[in-house]
Amino acid sequence: MARLPIVGGNWKMNTTRAEARALLGGLRALDGLAGVEVVICPPAPWLGDAADLLAGTTLRVGAQNVHWEPKGAFTGEVAAPMLAGTATYAIVGHSERRHVFHEKPTETNRKLRAVVEAGLRPILAIGERLAEAEAGRTEEVLRRQLTQAFRGFRALPESLVVAYEPVWAIGTGRAATPEDAQARCALVRAILAERFGRAAAEACRIQYGGSVTAQNIEGLAAQPDIDGALVGGASLDAAAFAAICRAVATAG
Ligand code: PGA
Repeated sequence: MARLPIVGGNWKMNTTRAEARALLGGLRALDGLAGVEVVICPPAPWLGDAADLLAGTTLRVGAQNVHWEPKGAFTGEVAAPMLAGTATYAIVGHSERRHVFHEKPTETNRKLRAVVEAGLRPILAIGERLAEAEAGRTEEVLRRQLTQAFRGFRALPESLVVAYEPVWAIGTGRAATPEDAQARCALVRAILAERFGRAAAEACRIQYGGSVTAQNIEGLAAQPDIDGALVGGASLDAAAFAAICRAVATAG
């Protein structure tokens, strides 16, 4: 069965409310685009605006992060069940959570469970750092991150998306080549197959992320194991992001 590619726009900690609303208005032009699922992940304060402004369109809203507890005394945090009705997706384990905020693998695992339990669809982000890539340790790192993230899971959640994002490619303007990205995404699929069986792995969507632009998306999207992209910087420009979504839609 063919996998429907998915493109996510991760705005990170950018946009004023006015900028967010203007960008969301521009993105409505992507409504009804066939051949790709589009997910917009604005900063938490604008999730409600995103849900309102994208209501009735085919675009989905995603959160950039969640806490693992369903509620409680956790000042400043957002619980997964709070997102029900607003977000459809939630990114878990983004490299900035892991490396800037020192999120531990056990925490990524708990967040993943919380997202699934809340009925949200996780976008699990994994990827190796530059020193690990240079030391030839990429496979070991991806294997470890996947093993840790899925601790306690008996099956691969059907709605789960994996985003392979080499840390050295994020925000650097240095995207992986289509061939390298394909090899890593195929490796991720093989690891998922070992853990959850071939059928589940074949059905799982795997995105590439890291300096994706309207210029380099075509080669990436043409790869058999790359099912779309997680886009940071270029998702802040409605025209660039729309071009990326359209390129992915036509590549499939
Ligand atoms: P980038 O970010 O496109 O700005 O490299 C990607 C990401 O962090 O998901």
